[in-house]
Amino acid sequence: MLINFLCIKCLFLQLSFHFIFVPLIPSQVLPPYAGSQGEWNLLHESIGISAMHMQLLHDNRVIMFDRTDFGQSNLSLSSGRCRFDPYDTVLHTDCTAHSILYDVATNAYRPLMVQTDTWCSSGSVLPNGTLVQSGGYNDGDHVVRTFTPCDDDQCDWIELPQHLSERRWYATNQILPDGRIIIIGGRRQFNYEFYPKSDEDLSFPQTFMLHFLLETRDYAENNLYPFVHLLPDGNLFIFANTRSILFDYKQNKVLKEYPEIPGADPRNYPSTGSSVLLPLDERNGSTSVQAEIMICGGAQNASFALATQGVFIRAISTCGRLVVSHANPSWVMEEMPLPRVMGDMILLPNGDVIIINGAQLGTAGWELARGPMTRPIIYRPSEQTSRRFSVMEPSTRPRMYHSSAIFNPHIYYNFTNVVYPTDLSLEAYSPPYLSAEYATVRPKILSLNETIGYKATFQVRFSVEEYLSAGVVSVRLIAPSFTTHSFGMNQRMVVLKILEVSHVTSYVYHLAAVAPSTAEIAPPGYYLLFVVHAEIPSSGMWVKME
Ligand SMILES: *[C@@H]1O[C@H](CO)[C@@H](O)[C@H](O)[C@H]1NC(C)=O
Ligand SMILES: *[C@@H]1O[C@H](CO)[C@@H](O)[C@H](O)[C@H]1NC(C)=O
Ligand SMILES: *[C@@H]1O[C@H](CO)[C@@H](O)[C@H](O)[C@H]1NC(C)=O
Ligand SMILES: *[C@@H]1O[C@H](CO)[C@@H](O)[C@H](O)[C@H]1NC(C)=O
Ligand SMILES: *[C@@H]1O[C@H](CO)[C@@H](O)[C@H](O)[C@H]1NC(C)=O
Ligand SMILES: *[C@@H]1O[C@H](CO)[C@@H](O)[C@H](O)[C@H]1NC(C)=O
Repeated sequence: MLINFLCIKCLFLQLSFHFIFVPLIPSQVLPPYAGSQGEWNLLHESIGISAMHMQLLHDNRVIMFDRTDFGQSNLSLSSGRCRFDPYDTVLHTDCTAHSILYDVATNAYRPLMVQTDTWCSSGSVLPNGTLVQSGGYNDGDHVVRTFTPCDDDQCDWIELPQHLSERRWYATNQILPDGRIIIIGGRRQFNYEFYPKSDEDLSFPQTFMLHFLLETRDYAENNLYPFVHLLPDGNLFIFANTRSILFDYKQNKVLKEYPEIPGADPRNYPSTGSSVLLPLDERNGSTSVQAEIMICGGAQNASFALATQGVFIRAISTCGRLVVSHANPSWVMEEMPLPRVMGDMILLPNGDVIIINGAQLGTAGWELARGPMTRPIIYRPSEQTSRRFSVMEPSTRPRMYHSSAIFNPHIYYNFTNVVYPTDLSLEAYSPPYLSAEYATVRPKILSLNETIGYKATFQVRFSVEEYLSAGVVSVRLIAPSFTTHSFGMNQRMVVLKILEVSHVTSYVYHLAAVAPSTAEIAPPGYYLLFVVHAEIPSSGMWVKME
């Protein structure tokens, strides 16, 4: 059923997953997406708020929020509650919601209460399943907010004022192997900090300088929402505009600078492209795990300045791949079939990458883009070069600035007299592998170990009508991302080593797999586990790594 646009992540929850059907031959490399182009479904004409940020939680609910100083949203807070905020730049008394909790199973949602401004903030889920959101703007820029899932629909945001050492507006977060969160950068912040603080003693430095962010900011001081990925060696890959480093955050040391991405066009806000860490593959053992980054799209260097004068130039159509675990890697560039700025890159359970949302012309920022790019593209990293990209079915709705979900290109909720009215709809996209013709090869997980330790052998029982061979079965873990401004923070996939697949009875099979070897490969916490058979994924089931 669905792949929520807002959060394509929701797709991972869904009940059925398919792919293309061309007669399947075991071990054969499947052709690119040729037949079905997937399907769009409108889940709600309006969810009442603009979903600028979102995160899938382990109870299959998606938390979404925008900023609080947009004026009234289209959704009232429950039980007559209101916010009183003397610092709000638009409304001091506001009885509307700016956050919701959406239930994927029932398609229902309820309003949540945010007190201070969450505009352009960041987040990560702690190993225990609590979402930690950090920063924002104005009275919210030093605030940490937590949200812990509950069964009784009573839980809401908890705000922790002054929990950040610095103002964090457009920062990037990454969950670390020890369960802490690193919070990097933000507008005019050339530093990073941790949550929770490692030392209660405030005389100990709480903020650590990162000169790289000072060096990479553009003429307008932008290199916002830097792309950050935790690598298997425990260091961070940090990319800002065109440059990138291998960074040891423990020693506050740049270990290496990678070559600049070719093309001289920046890739971070407002030139918003996107980035993923391609699947970490442990099938050949933990020592050979390669780490490869892929960055796609963005806006040309001159785009922002031109767009403010009403000239909208073509977005970037290149992607670059860099094997950051190699000693001297260089970028391998590829051309997307279509240009795109503000495209979200999401790892699909079969290891493909979908690039969705965004525009063909202009740049990120209020009113600065044109030419909605309504067609997603799917990229198959291991295909032959010429066969990697496939163009999918378009959505009927433009999804532009602030649409990691929902399209909202304006500062406020403007429904009339603008080129792209604020759209509060929630749409789901189902990739081709969900189409009914793959039902017979789609596996279904029957049972599994819900808590798994590092390097542990664990069991999964699954059924499949038409079993091809053990050679086309894989087991994959996905950490769902905190998505905003086209970047999925904390998103990662680990492909596990399978020890054996055995036939149990009729359609039922049993497999033994080895859990990720280290917390650097898979930080502790909740993951969606998928069994993938002939590139057709099962529905995801939650497991906890600890
Ligand atoms: C928002 O609410 C107003 C007033 O109730 C309504 O007219 C409008 O259609 C709503 N817009 C959306 C996009 O839901
Ligand atoms: C997770 O840990 C945080 C920080 O210690 C705490 O606030 C939260 O309540 C915990 N969540 C759960 C589900 O125990
Ligand atoms: C982008 O343009 C600015 C202003 O013209 C220039 O200073 C800067 O070097 C350019 N950036 C890149 C990455 O070429
Ligand atoms: C695993 O090893 C096999 C045989 O050497 C090789 O063909 C394959 O590409 C390797 N896969 C990964 C993910 O390293
Ligand atoms: C959007 O609405 C706000 C508040 O009503 C208004 O100030 C602003 O000019 C509108 N924006 C556009 C682009 O029309
Ligand atoms: C997985 O679950 C099975 C069945 O409940 C149990 O026997 C086994 O010990 C578990 N394995 C691990 C690694 O927890």
